[in-house]
Amino acid sequence: MRIALQCLAVVGLLGAASAPVHADQDLAVKKNCSACHFVDKRKYGPSFQQIAAKYADQKDAADKLAVKIRKGGTGVWGQDVMPPQPQVTVAESKALAKYILSVKPGEAK
Ligand code: HEC
Repeated sequence: MRIALQCLAVVGLLGAASAPVHADQDLAVKKNCSACHFVDKRKYGPSFQQIAAKYADQKDAADKLAVKIRKGGTGVWGQDVMPPQPQVTVAESKALAKYILSVKPGEAK
């Protein structure tokens, strides 16, 4: 049983590494981010393109945004509040932050 579980974990890791490019966009949909964020235009929250542009020069942006994704917050983009997202794990928050920062201007997907 233990061995079987370890195998599953390895398969899971390999699966994540070879996932298609837009896997994290799927994650954003699955984790309900798309209720407030579009990729290419402002919805209730800023678009992923706007966020990527704002933090393009900041090396630690992925870590900072990963924390904010789970805790939520306000005041960076106006007075609207992003609620905490406890359904997102630490690993998922990092993947989402990296994905958001990788969105290019003009990318409409
Ligand atoms: C209920 C609406 C709502 C949901 C759901 C939501 N957000 Fe947000 N998000 C916002 C708002 C509003 C802001 C702007 C907050 C601010 O000005 O500080 C924001 C800001 C952000 C930022 C930029 C933070 C910053 O400090 O610049 C990121 C990254 C982000 N959201 C990612 C996500 C991800 C990933 C999810 C899904 C797990 C998600 N959001 C779900 C409303 C939402």
